Amino acid sequence: MSAATPPAQSPTARRVSARVGSISESATLAVDAKAKALKAAGRPVIGFGAGEPDFPTPGYIVDAAAEACRDTRNHRYTPAGGLPELKAAIAEKTLRDSGYEVEPTQVLVTNGGKQAIYESFAAVLDPGDEVIVPAPYWTTYPESIRLAGGVPVPVVADETTDYLVSVEQLEAARTERTKMVVFVSPSNPTGSVYPRAQVEAIGKWAVEHGLWVLTDEIYEHLVYGDAAFTSLPAVVPELRDKCVVVNGVAKTYAMTGWRVGWIIGPKDVVKAAMNLQSHATSNVSNVAQVAALAAVSGSLDAVAEMRAAFDRRRRTIVRMLNEIEGVVCPEPEGAFYAYPSVKALLGKEIRGKRPATSVELAELILEEAEVAVVPGEAFGTPGYLRLSYALGDEDLAEGVSRMQKLLGEARD
Ligand SMILES: Cc1ncc(COP(=O)(O)O)c(C=O)c1O
Repeated sequence: MSAATPPAQSPTARRVSARVGSISESATLAVDAKAKALKAAGRPVIGFGAGEPDFPTPGYIVDAAAEACRDTRNHRYTPAGGLPELKAAIAEKTLRDSGYEVEPTQVLVTNGGKQAIYESFAAVLDPGDEVIVPAPYWTTYPESIRLAGGVPVPVVADETTDYLVSVEQLEAARTERTKMVVFVSPSNPTGSVYPRAQVEAIGKWAVEHGLWVLTDEIYEHLVYGDAAFTSLPAVVPELRDKCVVVNGVAKTYAMTGWRVGWIIGPKDVVKAAMNLQSHATSNVSNVAQVAALAAVSGSLDAVAEMRAAFDRRRRTIVRMLNEIEGVVCPEPEGAFYAYPSVKALLGKEIRGKRPATSVELAELILEEAEVAVVPGEAFGTPGYLRLSYALGDEDLAEGVSRMQKLLGEARD
């Protein structure tokens, strides 16, 4: 061995740490990037990959931000945990929208919901703590649990229950190492919304066993038909002391690029997460925080308009997907995703290929139909595809008809 090659067990032998090296790229961002690259190369790709509204941020929010740029107070560092007026507005908005009463000191403003999720797990978990994660899950949960030293324990629900997990399933996954459970409604990637009785049952089960809950409410305002959003700590107040709520402006106000989210939780956990943030990123951009303040303290008219458009697209996409033989798509009641099962298509011959997995099927759809979808493997459930319907009506209809044509050619 040359002097330049350290032995394998030496700390200098490994270039990237095992902890961070084990994190995989966000599959949803990867699909989106691939679709955008093909598009840039001149291919007429239609992308169902992105998890973001296709609307611009409402004008009054942009105006508030433009004004904030000229205010020199915003040119400086501000408290790491968030602008006091934004924290107060988030507490008020939470009471208005969820019926959940919290103090501004229970709020931490973060760089988007993603940072809120990472910091919540980091603040609560010790190495080896298990976290029950209902699957299909959004890819970021298991990765941030692992980064925090925890162990994600998936509990899978399928299309026969509209992807909703039962208390019995959760209980079967509980061990003496279980510390936390993740609860997301409306859900990414399935669009499922838990009925109030089931939210209550899950919350009571968590209280009974002394478990923490991380509940992600980022799609709270995107529910359709008779479905209603239910905030878990509002219906199970006994859980307050062990409940961390994650939320943000990204989806409600078409503000994915502004990067403002928040944590609401017990004061000790919020303080711990704030300490972590103070060393990692400090305050969220002041201009973005002022924009978020205009958003959360303003009306919900803009989201009502977006919701009407999403609802129309939702009905179109579900109908068109279910017209394809071998595709089963339950009707999502929230968010902006459809999550069809394509299990019956796997192994069939389509244009000379036999895709055996949903990853291979998604690749074939991109190559042959020039349509980008995310395979279920990214969400812990092979055999499914996720399609975001946050795209224009014409593109949506064209994209799904291309899939209908291609998948209609499937033969044994
Ligand atoms: C369920 C869920 N939570 C949180 C987020 C994070 O949103 P952001 O970091 O853009 O605020 C997303 C984004 O896709 C999401 O789908």
